[in-house]
Amino acid sequence: MRRSFVAGNWKMNGTSDSVQTLLSGIKSGAGAIEGVDIAVCPAFVHIGLAAQALAGSNVAWGGQNLCDEAGPGAFTGEVSVGMLLDLGCRYVIVGHSERRTLYGESDELVAAKFVLAEQTGLTPILCVGELLEEREAGVTEEVIDRQLNAVFAQEGGLAALNNAVIAYEPVWAIGTGLTATPEQAQAVHAFIRERLADRNETMAAGIRILYGGSVKSSNAGEIFAQPDIDGGLIGGASLQADEFLKICEAGAV
Ligand code: PGA
Repeated sequence: MRRSFVAGNWKMNGTSDSVQTLLSGIKSGAGAIEGVDIAVCPAFVHIGLAAQALAGSNVAWGGQNLCDEAGPGAFTGEVSVGMLLDLGCRYVIVGHSERRTLYGESDELVAAKFVLAEQTGLTPILCVGELLEEREAGVTEEVIDRQLNAVFAQEGGLAALNNAVIAYEPVWAIGTGLTATPEQAQAVHAFIRERLADRNETMAAGIRILYGGSVKSSNAGEIFAQPDIDGGLIGGASLQADEFLKICEAGAV
């Protein structure tokens, strides 16, 4: 039985004050929620606040990205896996569609970050998903295959999947208010799990595959009820403590 997982991706949002308010709201409500793993991924500059606020709670924290070089070293503007670990991060998101499409991160770069994160002790959350034009062209499965194959091709990639999370995020559903129907999402999740099972059945049966893309408290229950959906990666709705906590409750079993 896979344990549900709900993670908040705060993207480039928040001030020191608003983040502290959000963290204390989530911490105080999360204590009563059992049967689901919970994490938040603030912007890098706010991770220290998360570490202070959430230490000793049942809410973990993580980064939204990491440098593909282990470092330390001359990589201006980058944040290393060691820095994330130093701040107590347990997770790191890799290959979010905004990194892929706005910042040109290739499948290979994402795969390299994924393996580095896992080998250094973080649990990477690997994001995969198709653009609207790709769904309309009927190539969703090809796109997911390409993104997964880059991980399989990376040395250590298959092994890293034993300690990782996957997030299926159809790009057309991110921040748009459009959500994949539970059936659409389930179909892609099942496809991902089958592709993983082709490589390693035990890993495929155990890995958590989250859905992301306009999840709200009003639709989380029916999405999370799908057999291959093990929780969610939540953007906009994770910026309000009450709403995020309701989504976590929908994941609790
Ligand atoms: P959204 O973002 O929930 O705001 O659609 C999800 C994500 O980008 O991870």
